[in-house]
Amino acid sequence: MRVLLTGGSGFIGSHIALLLLERGIDVVILDSFTNSSPNVINRINTYLDNKYLKYKLEIINGDIRDKKTLDKIFFDSIKAHKSIDIVIHLAGLKSVSESVVNPLLYWDVNVLGTLNLLLSMKEYECFSLVFSSSATIYGLSDLVPMAEDHNISPINPYGKTKVAIESMFYDLCNSNINLWKICSLRYFNPVGAHPSGLIGEDPIGIPNNLFPFLTQVAIGRQKTLKIFGDDWDTEDGSGIRDYIHIIDLAEGHLASIDYLNSIDSCLEFINLGSGKGYSVFQIINQFESSTGCQIPFSIESRRDGDVAKCYADISKAKTLLGWSPKRSLEEICLDGWNWQMKNPNGYS
Ligand code: NAD
Ligand code: UFG
Repeated sequence: MRVLLTGGSGFIGSHIALLLLERGIDVVILDSFTNSSPNVINRINTYLDNKYLKYKLEIINGDIRDKKTLDKIFFDSIKAHKSIDIVIHLAGLKSVSESVVNPLLYWDVNVLGTLNLLLSMKEYECFSLVFSSSATIYGLSDLVPMAEDHNISPINPYGKTKVAIESMFYDLCNSNINLWKICSLRYFNPVGAHPSGLIGEDPIGIPNNLFPFLTQVAIGRQKTLKIFGDDWDTEDGSGIRDYIHIIDLAEGHLASIDYLNSIDSCLEFINLGSGKGYSVFQIINQFESSTGCQIPFSIESRRDGDVAKCYADISKAKTLLGWSPKRSLEEICLDGWNWQMKNPNGYS
C-alpha cells in the first residue's frame, strides 16, 4: 500500500508517518515546511534505521495550493506503477488567533488547498481520504461528552474552514454515493510525544496550548504557567479538556485506513479523543507527580473563546474503527517530558 501524507512533517503527521512505515506501508510526504522542520525527516529515518526496518519514504517539498505539484505526485506514482491508494490530509494552518487576524490565509491554505487535493484525487482516481478535522467545530457549547451529532457552531475562522471542508466532503460524496471513501477525524487535544523522544511537538514561538507551554516551563524556557481562569463551572474551577496521547491519535489513522480498505464507499465524521476530561490543575498535578518537576503557575483571567468543558464521546470510533485509546495521562506526561528533556530547543 502507498499513502500520500500531506503535512507529514508536522506534529501529528510525523507520528503517523512513523507508524505507517513501521507497518511496511510506503509513504509520500508532501509538506511545505512552513510550520515544521526538515529535521523531522532525519529523525524518522534515524528511528527506522535503529530498528533495522526496511521502508520506503519519499519527501516532496511543496504547497497543497499548487495543483501542479499534486497532479505530478499522482501522475508520477501511476507512471512508476506505485499508485497512491489513500491520502491522509493534514497539511494546513491551525492557529486560532492567527486565523482571526488573517482569515483569508486560512481559507486559502485550508479550504483551497483541500479543494485542489480533491480535484487532483478525482482526476487520478484516488478516492480514499482520511482528513484532520477538529473538535473546535463544536464551538462554545460545553454539553459533554460531545458526540458527532453535536451542534456544529465554530466561533473562529480556523474552525469555519474545517466546517467548510466537511461540507465539501458531504457534497462530493452525495454527488456519487458509491465512489468516495472519506473519514473526517475530529481531533480533541493531541499531546505527548513518541516514546523514543526522537519526534514530538515543537511549536514556533511561545506555545498557545497548555501542554507544550507546561513542558517548556518544566525545562526552564518559560517562567510561569498562566492558568486561564479558576472560576469555571468545574470541580476545581479550571478548564476541562480531552487530552489524547499522540500515538493513540496516530493509531486512529491506521484504524481508519483499515476501515476504508474494508468497505466500498462511505463518509464518516469520527471523534478521536481519550473520552475523558481533565482539568488544568489535574494536568499540572499529574505532570508534577510523574516527572518530579515543579510547575510554578499564576491564575489569570479567562481566555477569549474558551469553554469550561470539552471532551469526546468516542463510542463511534470504538464501534466503527475497532479503535480505542490505550495510553494513560501518566504516559502522556512521561513521553512529553522525555521529548522535551532530550530536545530542550525542539528540532533546532
Ligand atoms: P502542524 O502545523 O505541526 O502540521 C501541519 C503541517 O502542514 C506542517 O508541517 C506545515 O509545514 C504543513 N503545511 C502548512 N501549510 C501547508 C501548505 N500550504 N502546503 C503543504 N504543507 C503545509 O500541525 P498539527 O498539529 O500536526 O496538525 C495537523 C492537522 O491537524 C492540521 O490540519 C490541524 O488543523 C489539525 N488539528 C490539529 C490539532 C492540534 O491540536 N494539533 C487539533 C485538531 C486538528
Ligand atoms: N490553558 C491555560 N494556560 C495556557 C494554555 C491553556 O490555562 O497557557 C487552558 C485553556 O484555558 C484550556 C486548556 O488549558 O482550558 C486547554 O487549552 P489548549 O490551548 O491547550 O487547548 P484548547 O482546547 O483551547 O484548543 C486546542 C487547539 C484547538 C483545537 C482544540 C480542540 O488549540 O485548535 O484543542 O481540538 F480546536
